[in-house]
Amino acid sequence: MPNTRQHPRLIAFEGIDGSGKTTQARLLKQRLGDVAVLLSEPTSESPAGKRLREEVFRDRAACPPREELALFIEDRRWNVTHRVRPALLEGKTVIVDRYYFSTVAYQAQRGFAPLDLLTLNTQQFPPPDAVVFLDVAPELAVARIRERKGQTPNDFEVQEHLARVRQVYLWVRDHRFITINGAKPAPTQAAEIWRALFGESGIRAF
Ligand code: TYD
Repeated sequence: MPNTRQHPRLIAFEGIDGSGKTTQARLLKQRLGDVAVLLSEPTSESPAGKRLREEVFRDRAACPPREELALFIEDRRWNVTHRVRPALLEGKTVIVDRYYFSTVAYQAQRGFAPLDLLTLNTQQFPPPDAVVFLDVAPELAVARIRERKGQTPNDFEVQEHLARVRQVYLWVRDHRFITINGAKPAPTQAAEIWRALFGESGIRAF
């Protein structure tokens, strides 16, 4: 019988800001070592990614929704062409800290229909084999962001925004999603993620 239970090769980490996905993506990369590459979106390499990080993120409301969406898509196209596909072709496991479900969850807050955003992405980008979704209550996420960046005057607004983003993630979840309780200690989460992705046999199967 053919082995239909292949290990995931393209793994996306998703979650609201402050969910701890970056920490978990890094821990997974550490544990996998050289068989894996860790990438993130938006990138800080492509012209679109640089514009997002250097200009748009300074005042997000000032950027028209269409322009913002186009920049995320353009940056993703660059990442897929120059980083994701070449690594997959080399036989690497690719971990991406945010991928197209971020566009669905976040750009839905700027007036686009989630389903349209999903279609726009699935039509042109390779689908992830697994999506690790770090799920936390928006209150906890805001408390973590505050710890990291210092108190902001609009905590409540941020919390409401993240609650709406989380709702879209919950709506778009499919069988590839591994939902992890992001309130648990980081090592516990890491162990759960490992087990869900690679089972008990773990790295030996590579
Ligand atoms: P994030 O990875 O959380 O940034 P950092 O770890 O550098 O703080 O992502 C930055 C922001 O970009 C975050 O608020 C989510 C947003 N984003 C979108 O709105 N759409 C997208 O398609 C992506 C990839 C990110």
